[in-house]
Amino acid sequence: MISTAAVFGAGVMGAGIAQALAVAGCAVRLTDISADAIAAGMERIEHGRFGLRRAVARGKMAAADAEAAFARISSTADDAAACAGVDAVVEAVPEDLTLKCRLFRRIDALVPDHAVLASNTAGLPITALAWATLRPERVIGWHWAQPAPLMRLAEIITHPDCAPRTVDLICDIARRAGKNPVVIKDQPEIWGFVANRINRAVRIEAARVVAEGIATEDEVDTIMKDCFRWPMGPFEMQRPGSMT
Ligand SMILES: NC(=O)c1ccc[n+]([C@@H]2O[C@H](COP(=O)([O-])OP(=O)(O)OC[C@H]3O[C@@H](n4cnc5c(N)ncnc54)[C@H](O)[C@@H]3O)[C@@H](O)[C@H]2O)c1
Repeated sequence: MISTAAVFGAGVMGAGIAQALAVAGCAVRLTDISADAIAAGMERIEHGRFGLRRAVARGKMAAADAEAAFARISSTADDAAACAGVDAVVEAVPEDLTLKCRLFRRIDALVPDHAVLASNTAGLPITALAWATLRPERVIGWHWAQPAPLMRLAEIITHPDCAPRTVDLICDIARRAGKNPVVIKDQPEIWGFVANRINRAVRIEAARVVAEGIATEDEVDTIMKDCFRWPMGPFEMQRPGSMT
């Protein structure tokens, strides 16, 4: 069972992931190369729109539970300290394959042998990240949606060398964090897993409909919501602030 985890990257996703893991009962170490990012991430966890205080104010969480969750999160700019003794790492650094491969290689050398490494990449090949390490069987994809504390998405991406135990451990912590894990296969030749590939196709077709002068963006949004009960239309989803 995963009871201690490090989260690499304290940005939009990393802070939310750290919060969700802490609410699930994990001791979490949040780390980043930027001290400012760590401070901003901790601030978002405590006071942000999807943070712990708001959850209490909205009646979603007892104050004592929120306090206990916050107390389970520590932060450090020292990646070795973040990795010492952890059962798992969740990586949420920018979407850059070279950066992620280099980081996975470094993390591999810092964590205990039993630790599993998960990437929140939105679509880079998990197989490449796995083979950047000497523990490919303990590397997996775990794609979250923004805002991470709220959204149930847990695309769990496996590759041919991923061990069943790694899948079980990540699905277990995902469920404890209130997520709904769905295990899918890596497809290294195409960017994106299921959610982003299908969403991209929708966005391309929606833009084509508008370009052809058939309907406006607002009309497309209204039609898709009325027809398929989507909570938001494809253009609404792309507007700044709609998902943050
Ligand atoms: N933003 C979203 O809606 C969303 C949704 C799903 C998945 N993702 C994926 O999550 C990942 C992170 O996205 P984000 O939006 O949180 O990015 P972000 O830019 O908000 O945060 C990334 C953080 O990583 C830090 N960082 C860079 N190099 C580092 C290193 N070597 N070690 C530790 N920290 C480092 C940066 O300082 C920054 O604070 C990306 O792979 C992205 O594709 C994003």
